[in-house]
Amino acid sequence: MCILESKRLNLRPPRPTDIEAMAVWLDDYDVAKNLSRVPYPYSEEHAEEFLAMPPDGRHVFVIERKQGGTFLGLIGLHPDETGYEFGYWLGKPYWGQGFATEAADRLMTYAFESMGLEMVHAGWFVDNPASGHVLAKLGLRHNGSKLRFSRAREADVLCHDMLLTRADFLRKQAA
Ligand SMILES: CC(C)(COP(=O)(O)OP(=O)(O)OC[C@H]1O[C@@H](n2cnc3c(N)ncnc32)[C@H](O)[C@@H]1OP(=O)(O)O)[C@@H](O)C(=O)NCCC(=O)NCCS
Repeated sequence: MCILESKRLNLRPPRPTDIEAMAVWLDDYDVAKNLSRVPYPYSEEHAEEFLAMPPDGRHVFVIERKQGGTFLGLIGLHPDETGYEFGYWLGKPYWGQGFATEAADRLMTYAFESMGLEMVHAGWFVDNPASGHVLAKLGLRHNGSKLRFSRAREADVLCHDMLLTRADFLRKQAA
């Protein structure tokens, strides 16, 4: 898998040395509760298991700051019943600096230009408006809402699904 570059970030394949940082930042309820599949508490064993999973069509990247090579979080695309879903998270100290938007914008270019996808989607839990805002800024449009299980909360939570089609992506690129 390649390295995707943006202005401040490299999106690169994960490596075993990322396990410690993953466990530090995901063992934070404020991060884990906004993700569907991440357990809480989160340990290094969970990170090891995640990285050892067979790819099964998933494209997972570490979000790394070019300056200093700091591990900021993860972003990835995975196939599901409707196509490809993407998700992302950042360690809490790195929130609010535009990194998620920058990383997801780069991933969208990869999805449409390199993978040749026709559409991607992503979900955000109703009490996580920051993520909804990131997705709207990237041009994704509301595509329905339904309850979705959050492993960290051990509960179903209302989740808004957002969709970006190739046509919308190209329109945004041209604007
Ligand atoms: C969601 C998350 C990835 C956002 O990362 P980030 O780097 O802080 O996001 P950005 O800085 O690129 O953009 C956040 C935007 O949301 C806005 N925002 C922040 N809090 C908000 C709130 N409570 N309501 C609405 N918008 C909000 C910010 O102002 C910013 O928009 P702007 O650039 O127009 O000002 C990060 O908070 C995170 O990792 N959370 C835990 C995991 C998670 O939620 N993952 C996403 C699952 S769908």
